[in-house]
Amino acid sequence: MKKTILVFASGSGSNFQSIIDAIDSGALDAQICGLIVNKEGIGAIERAQKKGIPVFHISEKQTADYSSFAQLMLATCLKLDPDVIALAGYMRKIPVQLIQAFEGRILNIHPALLPKFGGKGMYGMNVHRAVVEAKESETGCTIHVVTEEFDEGPILAQAKVPVYETDSAEDVQKRVLTEEHKLYPNVLQQFLNSI
Ligand code: GRF
Repeated sequence: MKKTILVFASGSGSNFQSIIDAIDSGALDAQICGLIVNKEGIGAIERAQKKGIPVFHISEKQTADYSSFAQLMLATCLKLDPDVIALAGYMRKIPVQLIQAFEGRILNIHPALLPKFGGKGMYGMNVHRAVVEAKESETGCTIHVVTEEFDEGPILAQAKVPVYETDSAEDVQKRVLTEEHKLYPNVLQQFLNSI
């Protein structure tokens, strides 16, 4: 039986697509059992629909309070029973019950070389802007295990890219994203081999 990946996304889903493509090309031996999103109308949903991957839209707007949101997230994940959960641009804090239930099996990709440029407020373009403002000569991406400490779980892999003086935050984002798309499927394969 193939190992299963459950993906969480909140945006365009280009990392989600890189996982789909790696499976299609045979580079990643796994199956995607679902996509959990917290927003409607995002690119990731369209990408899932094209492949017939089940989409679960779970947001606090649909539930009475945070606790019922957390319970629904947990129940959905337990039912899907994935081998690994891959956060791919998911912009919502993961409920602690979920982190505990899937301890060591939730991975996240962060668009910088953690521990640099991580933590509160460090997401999306904010990260790349901060890198340019700090005049860093290199940046990259990090895949880490999700723990209750935001952006602080054990690092599994990093890929570096140069930052040039003339770069805009958008230039840096593009260069980093290209590496993200290679790194995530590779790390997922290694992770699945190890469990
Ligand atoms: C990526 O840069 C990822 O590192 C971060 O959010 C972004 C998601 O991009 N966590 P996409 O939706 O996969 O295109």
